[in-house]
Amino acid sequence: MEGETQVSGAKNAALPLLAASLLAEGEHTFRNVPDLLDVATMLKVLRTMGCHADRLPGGERRLCKVQVSIVTPEAPYELVKTMRASVLVLGPLVARHGRARVSLPGGCAIGARPIDQHLKGLRALGAEIEITGGYVEARAKRLRGTTIAFDLITVTGTENLMMAATLAEGRTLLENAAREPEVEELARVLNKMGARISGAGSDRISIEGVADLHPVDHSILPDRIEAGTLLVAAAITGGNVLVRGAQPQHLDAVIQKLRQAGCEITSETNGLRCKGPTVIQSADVQTTEYPGFPTDMQAQLMVLMSIANGTAVISENIFENRFMHVPELDRMGADITIQGNSAVVKGVKRLSGAPVMATDLRASASLILAGLRADGRTDIHRVYHLDRGYEHLEKKLRPLGANIRRIKEK
Ligand code: EPU
Repeated sequence: MEGETQVSGAKNAALPLLAASLLAEGEHTFRNVPDLLDVATMLKVLRTMGCHADRLPGGERRLCKVQVSIVTPEAPYELVKTMRASVLVLGPLVARHGRARVSLPGGCAIGARPIDQHLKGLRALGAEIEITGGYVEARAKRLRGTTIAFDLITVTGTENLMMAATLAEGRTLLENAAREPEVEELARVLNKMGARISGAGSDRISIEGVADLHPVDHSILPDRIEAGTLLVAAAITGGNVLVRGAQPQHLDAVIQKLRQAGCEITSETNGLRCKGPTVIQSADVQTTEYPGFPTDMQAQLMVLMSIANGTAVISENIFENRFMHVPELDRMGADITIQGNSAVVKGVKRLSGAPVMATDLRASASLILAGLRADGRTDIHRVYHLDRGYEHLEKKLRPLGANIRRIKEK
């Protein structure tokens, strides 16, 4: 694959930012909003509550306007079951509206994913919380700042409580907070709205509550996971691709692994360039919270290792069931065995195209990467998972030389 491509706005920043709009009355403007199913779902969640929330039509589709007015402070089961990040409206609703009714997300394809830490934190801030009929019902006159130490590191948990604490009385300290760039981005935007947050990007975030916030105009940062996926596409095909918009400071751990695999990664003024090696070298991977290697890049890196020279051990430490791509990759000729939370990936010379089934978002991306490298044709079924988090991936890969097209599922 050769050429240049552009990274879209970050899904995992867009979702909390749209939820954060609930914290301030008036009209918010979000730019560089990726055209994704998950974003469409979050806009729907906001509309269900009574807000006007939509993309501008035509060439301005990456621009989103949210006019906040909360009639029903509720995120229904029908929407939460399709996207668990809908739970991000909980903190903002309780903080500004005084009550919220949000469906409890169930388990998900990659793990159980409870929200106990979100609820523990909201209770500590003074919210009354009840679980009835599969819904979280939360109430509070005004939240009160306090110190909350997370038992484990949670990205959306940190975001939910950071948003809630912006309007609390007094100071909130979040300890053992997530350090992801998307958490930092949310803090930046909340501060633009008038919040007083410091320390985001570290594991201790301090939030001085304010009486109210105002609407914001903000352009969303580039998606580091999409960027990483495109870098792997170059790596796996022995190509040379400039990924415009890729932020090297957010991709440290990924760049390090790609270099270990033999790729030449260079930082250019407008992005990152990856030149793939003739022979890929194996490299072990441990997924951990940021700034460690992201779980959202695990499946993609595994495909690269599946054709490497040597054996790689890939350990998944964030989610308990995020190896569903393994049997599908094995059907394409990979030699991967699962041992507990690790996958032992013995590099093979070649992969062969096969009909395969996508099971979740990042698994879909990994199957596409495998298909790029495999001999012959790969048909990927249930590819709709891909559209949740990648903006028209096939349209980005095609100009780089990929022979990829979307066909209707029978
Ligand atoms: N967890 C708990 N209790 C909680 C919260 C989390 O036990 O109250 C556990 C989870 O079950 C998991 C671990 O803690 O084992 C980490 O989960 P986290 O809460 O950090 O995940 P998340 O906030 O639900 C976000 C991203 C995911 C990404 C993870 C980890 C968004 C909207 N989603 O999920 O993105 O994998 O952080 O980095 O930001 C993706 O984009 O494909 C995706 C799944």
